[in-house]
Amino acid sequence: MKRKDMLGLRDSTAEEIGLILDTAARFRSVSERRIKKVPTLRGRTIVTAFFEDSTRTRLSFDVAAKRLSADTLGFSASSSSTKKGETLMDTARNLDAMKPDAIVIRHPCAGAPHMLAQAFPWSVLNAGDGINEHPSQALLDMLTMRDHLGSLAGRTVAIVGDVYHSRVARSNLYGLPKVGARVLLAGPGTMCRPQMARPGVELLHRVDDVLAEADVIMMLRIQRERLAPGMMSTSREYARFYGLDLERLERARPEVLVMHPGPINRGVEMSPDVADGDRSVILEQVTNGVAVRMALMYLLLGGEPLPPGGDDAAAS
Ligand code: NCD
Repeated sequence: MKRKDMLGLRDSTAEEIGLILDTAARFRSVSERRIKKVPTLRGRTIVTAFFEDSTRTRLSFDVAAKRLSADTLGFSASSSSTKKGETLMDTARNLDAMKPDAIVIRHPCAGAPHMLAQAFPWSVLNAGDGINEHPSQALLDMLTMRDHLGSLAGRTVAIVGDVYHSRVARSNLYGLPKVGARVLLAGPGTMCRPQMARPGVELLHRVDDVLAEADVIMMLRIQRERLAPGMMSTSREYARFYGLDLERLERARPEVLVMHPGPINRGVEMSPDVADGDRSVILEQVTNGVAVRMALMYLLLGGEPLPPGGDDAAAS
């Protein structure tokens, strides 16, 4: 891959997305071995810098780097000098002085990873910047869809809930049309805004209107930490109009896939019986996340495209 950084899917091509997903499919088998490690990135140093809370994404990047034999250093804003008033640029200059090869960053400000990518020579992987993008999540979503549906061209993905404040949705909105998928959006007017519609992306608002046509239903968490006052009524009302429960799921195709990036607010955007039900591929998304992040680190740090073959190559 020619690029130094992975900042978002807005400027990625269908070919790059295909290369990342194919490479991820090849790396999956490493996590199935008893010794879950390959020497690919031995001697390289990868920093995970999380200025916002995270469970899955942080652990997933960390384990992905370790399975490639990279040395990992991690810090979070709550336990670092950010609390003492250090700016992002000062923190980054200090990290730079330790000669890392790549930095995985999550930050509440949209554009923070882009700033570091311009200022420093190491690779920057965006693990979520404010409401902007979360490309590795959208890529793991696509890999999970591809496992079940084959090619995504002509498939319909419904994204439901707080689309406007979701960086996961935004990366999917950039990525899915590039691989030929059609996206339908449903959610309250404050969370699903008209300017989000574009070629390949339609806004329908009502959940029942998107369900019947969907091959995939992606439910989103309400981004309470990013909502302005008055943007939402009560959780109970939200669940009634926009939540996915078994009764509503019956209106979808029987083979529909139910996805969620996590963390789930059970009983709000999704009922527990749907989250744990037989249409849910939520934990497959987590497993695929490790492979996608291995692929991203491998490709950004100079790895050549892997030749076709191997067990997992057949998955696509
Ligand atoms: C998402 C995020 O942080 O944007 N979570 C994740 O990375 N798996 C979604 C969310 O927090 O709702």
